Amino acid sequence: MRVSVIGCGHLGAPHAAAMAELGHEVTGVELDPEKCKALATGVPPIYEAGFAELLATHTSTGRLRFTTDLAEAADFADLHFIAVGTPLREDGRGYDTSQVVGAVRALVPLLSRPATIVGKSTVTVGTVAQLQQVIDDLAPVSRVDLVWNPEFLREGHAVEDTLYPDRIVAGLSSPEAQAAIEEVYAPILARGNVELIVTDPATAEVLKSAANAFLTTKISFINAMAEVCEITGADVNTVAYGIGIDKRIGHGGMRPGIGYGGGCLPKDVAAFTHRIGELGAHDAYGLLTAVEQVNESRAKAAAELVEKANGGPINGARIAFLGAAFKAGTSDVRDSPALRLTARLVDHGAVPVIYDPEAIDAARKLHPEFIYADTLDQALQGADLVVIGTEWQEFTHDPDLPKDAADLVRRTVLVDVRNAVEVGPWLIAGWEIWQLGRPPQRPT
Ligand SMILES: NC(=O)c1ccc[n+]([C@@H]2O[C@H](COP(=O)([O-])OP(=O)(O)OC[C@H]3O[C@@H](n4cnc5c(N)ncnc54)[C@H](O)[C@@H]3O)[C@@H](O)[C@H]2O)c1
Repeated sequence: MRVSVIGCGHLGAPHAAAMAELGHEVTGVELDPEKCKALATGVPPIYEAGFAELLATHTSTGRLRFTTDLAEAADFADLHFIAVGTPLREDGRGYDTSQVVGAVRALVPLLSRPATIVGKSTVTVGTVAQLQQVIDDLAPVSRVDLVWNPEFLREGHAVEDTLYPDRIVAGLSSPEAQAAIEEVYAPILARGNVELIVTDPATAEVLKSAANAFLTTKISFINAMAEVCEITGADVNTVAYGIGIDKRIGHGGMRPGIGYGGGCLPKDVAAFTHRIGELGAHDAYGLLTAVEQVNESRAKAAAELVEKANGGPINGARIAFLGAAFKAGTSDVRDSPALRLTARLVDHGAVPVIYDPEAIDAARKLHPEFIYADTLDQALQGADLVVIGTEWQEFTHDPDLPKDAADLVRRTVLVDVRNAVEVGPWLIAGWEIWQLGRPPQRPT
């Protein structure tokens, strides 16, 4: 099939590469000329596992191309994915949908034959109806179908989750639109283990928002329990493990820590909360407002933990700060909890030196005021405290790191605000370990 992907950022670029991998001819449209040039020459502008390889493979055969010219894509493709951004409005009260509306408004008049537009961007309920009106007003051809096909991928696993999704949701209103979705995802559906949920557009919109809302509720719930454990001297890791055995609760999303972040969850929950408040869903509004409040207080809780670990104020303390990405597996630093905590530590007079295996460039761009190290050793050298801000495996599960790091730091005190390290090797190497909602652990 000939497809276009309009908007080639964190979602769109891996999606375009994955569509080529499924066997489609793909044109990616990206407004940012630098990003577009990098993609077109097979150089990934972001880090996502497996993305560089797919990009190189399919740009070199010509099956995957990139352009800044929307007319080229309109002329080329029969199905157009919309993967542009839906940031929060400046006042924080709902999405700025101008990229989505703008892309559809620009695309539709350029179409010269029947086409399907497939929205993947996350939007709140009502946006699809608005876009349908744009299509009805502007379509120069007899049939332009609109499908809302929300994306559930986990950043850090974008390629894998696009090729092997756990479900495909399609909000649509015509048999032609359903046929187009079945065709574009045919290689995935043929495996027989992925459910295609066909529904109306409003249900698809709410389903995506509800999925994010539930995930963040789980995260904030266990983080609220970490607060309870902190006060009572209980161990939140054991609490999370113990309650998660109940199948109705489960272990997924139950690791306590510094809270959710990134380019999606914070803004999606904020926009959904605002919208359902407007619509008068008062109970849901109250629930999600509490979820957001818990999340916002995590950086403060983590900064207090760092102070406790230091045995007092951290003014002047040299901190090896490991991790800048909002989660492991990605170079994305948008709304990163690690950088939120860094800012707090700086406010308290500490001197964090940040190292991240993949996100240093992005972090430098966003926060040029922070101090960065090019290597892990450089960050560790002479540190009074080590803070793990992002759960990269090389920080949490490298059995050699505790001993190697102990040789470089001034004091062997580790603050793991992701509750992610395998503590055994650290204790053996003589480290004191502080995690959220757990009593400190000291070498015996
Ligand atoms: N990032 C994810 O993992 C993820 C997962 C699920 C859903 N989403 C949703 O997908 C959407 C995109 O998110 P993202 O993280 O990729 O954002 P992003 O900002 O990384 O990417 C958006 C891209 O679209 C480009 N763009 C904007 N208008 C354009 C136009 N008219 N033509 C061509 N390009 C244009 C921008 O230059 C940018 O590169 C959002 O609605 C987000 O909520 C993202």
